[in-house]
Amino acid sequence: MKKYNLAVVGATGAVGQKMIQLLEDTAIPVGSLKLLASKRSAGKKIPFRGHELVVEETTADSFSGIDIALFSAGGAITKSFEQAARQSGAVVIDNTSAFRMDEQTPLVVPEVNPDALHTHQQLIANPNCSTIQMVVALKPIEEAFGLDRVIVSTYQAVSGAGLEALDELDQQSEQMLNGEDAVEAAILPAASDKKHYPIAFNVIPQIDVFGEDGYTLEEWKMINETKKIMGRPDLKVSATCVRVPVKYGHSESVYVEVKEDGVTAESLREVLRNAPGITLQDDPTNQDYPLALHAAGQKDTFVGRIRKDPNDERGFHLWIVSDNLVKGAAWNSIQIAEKMIEMKLL
Ligand code: A2P
Repeated sequence: MKKYNLAVVGATGAVGQKMIQLLEDTAIPVGSLKLLASKRSAGKKIPFRGHELVVEETTADSFSGIDIALFSAGGAITKSFEQAARQSGAVVIDNTSAFRMDEQTPLVVPEVNPDALHTHQQLIANPNCSTIQMVVALKPIEEAFGLDRVIVSTYQAVSGAGLEALDELDQQSEQMLNGEDAVEAAILPAASDKKHYPIAFNVIPQIDVFGEDGYTLEEWKMINETKKIMGRPDLKVSATCVRVPVKYGHSESVYVEVKEDGVTAESLREVLRNAPGITLQDDPTNQDYPLALHAAGQKDTFVGRIRKDPNDERGFHLWIVSDNLVKGAAWNSIQIAEKMIEMKLL
């Protein structure tokens, strides 16, 4: 059986570490695993399958002999090294936003649009975390009842902004619990923006910087990526993205308008109960619904609180929760590689 040599670029980051953890029991026959990060991390040791792997600095020469390169070190690093990786013969699966909206680059969630992988040119984009968990639920709904409109409000975990943001949440929480009023904020809502606000005991209606029309880039990502993955440029999608002081697991309140009349909440539940990658968790009488704390560390997307809009026959509310570092990032990337092998594209 063919074995594949893998590289993780950004191996010391929040997503990179999760990738290494999930690769422990991947279906990919792993020949070797190379861990790449910045010069600062060179020499660091990370355990994998009973061995200590040494982190190396990422350079253009890092990809010789690599079959699959999983990138998660920020868009600038992808842009610096993806060509070198592809020229060395590797297929790049990129977890940044660098190529997601590039027409030549498939943007893939394996449960939703695996066929898009057929046109790959050694580069596949992994969608934004909040988009992935939403489309996993939207696709089976669209197939069963048609879909006209999606309105989403997110409650996004701090780990989506990286390890430094998680440290910031810990420090601020400790300071506030110790009675300090003036806690410092340097990362959130967006490291590159002018102002920063504490996330501890707070809710911040800004993820990433502002783009056009008062929407943030995260909101545009959800809008544009959803249309691309679903192959539905006509789908009406709008989003409000919010950071909450949760470590792992994005929660989303999603409102959908289906095309068909006469759809019931129960028929929606039935469709989602049988959908790949979804765990239906919807039993209000027993207070059973998806929670970020329960979804953390899990591969599935959890869906519950399904109910019909009392004012609109075709409108439904859903509560969708998934671990942003797992299905939202590392697991989806690894699933793409597994799918490509299954489809004999690798
Ligand atoms: P390093 O730890 O050496 O800085 P996160 O988003 O969780 O903070 O992770 C960012 C990841 O991107 C880390 O693994 C980080 O490595 C990596 N990274 C940052 N700058 C570079 C660079 N110039 N070359 C390669 N990897 C980088």
